[in-house]
Amino acid sequence: MAPVQRLGILTGGGDAPGLNAVIRAVVKSASTKGIECIGLEDSFDGLLEPNRSRRLGPRDVTGILRLGGTILGTVNRGNPFDRQIATSEGTRAYSERVIEMFRKMGLDALVVIGGDGTLAIAHAFSDLGIPIVGVPKTIDNDIVGTTNCFGFDSAVDFATDAIDRLHTTAQAHHRIMVVEVMGRYSGWIALYAGVAGGADAILIPEIPFDLGAVAARLRDRERWGASFSIVVVAEGAFAKGDTLTLLEPERIDHVERLGGIGARVCQGLAKESSKETRSVVLGHLQRGGTPTSFDRVLATRFGAKAVELVLRGEFGSMVAFDPPHIIARRLEEVVGKTKKVPMDFDLLQAAKAMGITFGD
Ligand code: F6P
Repeated sequence: MAPVQRLGILTGGGDAPGLNAVIRAVVKSASTKGIECIGLEDSFDGLLEPNRSRRLGPRDVTGILRLGGTILGTVNRGNPFDRQIATSEGTRAYSERVIEMFRKMGLDALVVIGGDGTLAIAHAFSDLGIPIVGVPKTIDNDIVGTTNCFGFDSAVDFATDAIDRLHTTAQAHHRIMVVEVMGRYSGWIALYAGVAGGADAILIPEIPFDLGAVAARLRDRERWGASFSIVVVAEGAFAKGDTLTLLEPERIDHVERLGGIGARVCQGLAKESSKETRSVVLGHLQRGGTPTSFDRVLATRFGAKAVELVLRGEFGSMVAFDPPHIIARRLEEVVGKTKKVPMDFDLLQAAKAMGITFGD
């Protein structure tokens, strides 16, 4: 195989703190090996037209380590494989156009930084012959095969700070405060931020809850003199026998949008207890802002490892954190799956042992 001379980089899916740190690490490590980097705008859309990309050298990525978002832009749309698009050269199937432009632009390989959806698309393009190395990203931390995704630590840090702030107002008003955090199908953010913030109840998608059990636990606190409580709810949590709470169902170009379970839990707890209750949704605030030092380091290690895999010709792979190492995994091992909080996870067990209720 001929050595890689031109490397495309793109970011796809919802943004996460640390995307720019990965881009910077890829560009800097590639350029020291004499590889030219091309930044593609707005995920795979950057391959639809020649004017949707730009050359990235070390100078272009200087100073972006600490920036949230992505200098390349991103999109969080559905599967491009079932879409036709209008291009400057006529209507084409999206995937055919991407492959055509990849060749026309003289690219030799791609580094694709994204979550489960983007990595599944990367896997499909890899099967169609595009040499790809994936980098796992999501604040939800639900990609299998990697202990951490960058962005997760920053989101947990933000949510913990928010819970700390809610504690003081909850205590002052003797209220139950419910905070809804992200986490579509897994409760990693809720569990970590809930424990770090000293929550009294943590509701996660892995454990369908019984609101009566949550209310009973909060009443216990009253008995020993705690006049307030904090409840952390993952957006994907649901009551026993119930389903997900959606803001919008799945559309042709977008996956289902979750949200609203925090408000429902808040209303339910108001009925089940004699206390005043309030709820707050942290939403996209969890995805913004500067990455923590942990995420900057992880993102940098991921970016450098991705270039190492490109140099070795290990395509169809994804970099992963297997502490203390950064390793390569095959994309087919990780796509289409969700990493859930295991029921025997020691943090979950520790939380339960301390009396934090999960509503089960
Ligand atoms: O997957 C990460 C995530 O932040 C989810 O937790 C959340 O449900 C989703 O993205 C929101 O995406 P959007 O940016 O499309 O609203």
